[in-house]
Amino acid sequence: MMLQPSSALVLVASLLAALPVNADGLYTKKSPVLQVNHKNYDQLIANSNHTSIVEFYAPWCGHCQNLKPAYEKAAKNLEGLAKVAAVNCDEDENKPFCGRMGVQGFPTLKIVTPGKKPGKPRVEDYKGARSTKAIVEAVVDRIPNHVKRATDKDLDTWLAQEEETPKAILFTEKGTTSALIRALAIDFLGSIHVAQVRNKESEAVEKFGITEFPTLVLLPGGDQDPIVYDGELKKAPMVEFLSQIAAPNPDPAPKSPKSSTPRDTQKPVESPDPKIVPDDAKEAKPASVPIPAPSIDTLPTAEALEAACLLPKSGTCILALLPEPTEPDADLPSPAKDALLSLSEISHKYSVRRHKLFPFYSVPAINSGSQTLRAALGLPEDQTSVEIIALSGRRGWWRRYDSAEGAEYGQDRVEAWIDAVRLGEGEKEKLPEGVIVEEKVEEQPAADHDEL
Ligand SMILES: *[C@@H]1O[C@H](CO)[C@@H](O)[C@H](O)[C@H]1NC(C)=O
Repeated sequence: MMLQPSSALVLVASLLAALPVNADGLYTKKSPVLQVNHKNYDQLIANSNHTSIVEFYAPWCGHCQNLKPAYEKAAKNLEGLAKVAAVNCDEDENKPFCGRMGVQGFPTLKIVTPGKKPGKPRVEDYKGARSTKAIVEAVVDRIPNHVKRATDKDLDTWLAQEEETPKAILFTEKGTTSALIRALAIDFLGSIHVAQVRNKESEAVEKFGITEFPTLVLLPGGDQDPIVYDGELKKAPMVEFLSQIAAPNPDPAPKSPKSSTPRDTQKPVESPDPKIVPDDAKEAKPASVPIPAPSIDTLPTAEALEAACLLPKSGTCILALLPEPTEPDADLPSPAKDALLSLSEISHKYSVRRHKLFPFYSVPAINSGSQTLRAALGLPEDQTSVEIIALSGRRGWWRRYDSAEGAEYGQDRVEAWIDAVRLGEGEKEKLPEGVIVEEKVEEQPAADHDEL
């Protein structure tokens, strides 16, 4: 039962004031629920072109704890389609924000739907059932539809509009516009126009020689030939496919000018020791928050590597597999130093913002697990270069950071890659057998609305 509104205000206000800070939120680092706070809410939620549901909670609240499994499942099902976020209103820093959002009891669920103007979303209380299905349905209902439903009559007109702009057409048997294609259109708003054509539009179907449904066709623009997608009907590979023509909108968008220094202008400081606080730690305001020196943890042994990242239960890990120093006491080669510094800074930045991110670890060459992992993943085994990889034992995938011929480990580039990992964008490879040390027990539940 929720608190009654009359008593709730007073009660919540006094609880908010009286309770000590609980650093542990309800959701762990590995949770699919996006953890949001007063500082990044605008950037991650209000300014997004995607729909979000946000839970305002307190870790001690029983109803919040009860909601957690259904909410995490909703987050998994909505991955790539909409954001499922949570704000810990027990954190001192978030309390005024939760108040401003009109939170009067825990949990409060709000659906945030992008409006016509960026940054001015519609925010409404979600009062439906606290089940995965009901939450997913309510959110999916509110995913904006930028997909043109074209017919034989108006397809040519649509194609002729902004002729040079790339377009994508989904040929489908369905009359409805799925969450997946709507989410895809949102990712490419402004760069690729998306339409949907039903199989009964026979002229259009014939024009493109479509024989199977659904089929996604990419029209690069101008008089370039159409490209037919033959991959899985899943968000990430479809984004990848469209990305060959135009980049998806970065979400979250790069920071707006009013919020501190734009990160694009910040260069990592050349430093032999990643533990030295770089200049841009100044970003970590207010000054009352103690600034931890940025560094990432080291996994010195094969056992430590296994325990941290290679179990069937392990969530996403980012690993920097370090090269061997050229001489016993020599410094690492500079690409490896750059990689470490970038990872340290990114991790530091997230921790300052109290934004939970997956863990980053460095793995020294001397760790025998590093060599084994390189061999299993088909990475260069000579250990002369650094490799940054992401892997998830639980979900059985891994990805390699492409350093562009070993030259590039700057913070912006690494961070863009981390963002893609975080958002599940880009191609993942299946972890080869034997990398994860026990039998897999869990399979990720398939999203039940994900098909086209
Ligand atoms: C939102 O869509 C607009 C195009 O309408 C695009 O320019 C912008 O980058 C998008 N913002 C985000 C955060 O994706």
